[in-house]
Amino acid sequence: MLISFEGIDGCGKTTQIDLLKKYLEKKNTAFHIFREPGGTVISEKIRNLLLHEMDEMNPVTELLLFSAARSQLLTDKVIPLLENGEMVILDRFYDSTTAYQGYGRGSAGLEQIIELNQLASHGTAPDLTFYLRIDPEAASKRTKGDNKDRMESSGNEFFEKVCSGYDKLAGMEDRFVVIDASQSPEEIHSDIIRKLESYL
Ligand code: TYD
Repeated sequence: MLISFEGIDGCGKTTQIDLLKKYLEKKNTAFHIFREPGGTVISEKIRNLLLHEMDEMNPVTELLLFSAARSQLLTDKVIPLLENGEMVILDRFYDSTTAYQGYGRGSAGLEQIIELNQLASHGTAPDLTFYLRIDPEAASKRTKGDNKDRMESSGNEFFEKVCSGYDKLAGMEDRFVVIDASQSPEEIHSDIIRKLESYL
């Protein structure tokens, strides 16, 4: 089973994935968690370029690098685990590319991005996607500070577009579970567990 977590920067995804991890450990459920971009040696090197290289990056280059990191993670880790019947949790997957590079940056046409997503994920799709929905303004208060990475430095207008992109995506596919991420971490966690248990 493949579960992905999505949402704009500052939506509280990391906290929720940690809480889910503890919950599954308590229940003795086996699982594997990977972050995107990342999760393999090659993908972590690409991550470094994407998040910490402050030289101006062409939007198509950015799109292709996120996709390249994904392809490596999928073939090295995710697909073999899924074939083995294991539970895999992804901290971001290709919906991030559609929302950030597609709706946010306009790096390529949406159809092209969807095709590229299929290529980079080797045809693998999530069974369930938790979209932690939060107002960009509320989210930006959480990511405020001096050490923003390259993506986080993209400005409010960008995040408005990313957010409305996610909203559109969530309306298109049944696998999306929209969670109100303005709630307390405990409330968000129990929403996630309720949905997960009912899915299982
Ligand atoms: P990360 O520090 O992991 O942020 P977060 O904790 O919010 O997930 O950095 C990942 C950044 O890369 C984040 O700003 C979202 C962005 N991103 C894309 O723009 N496209 C993608 O396909 C992916 C996977 C991430």
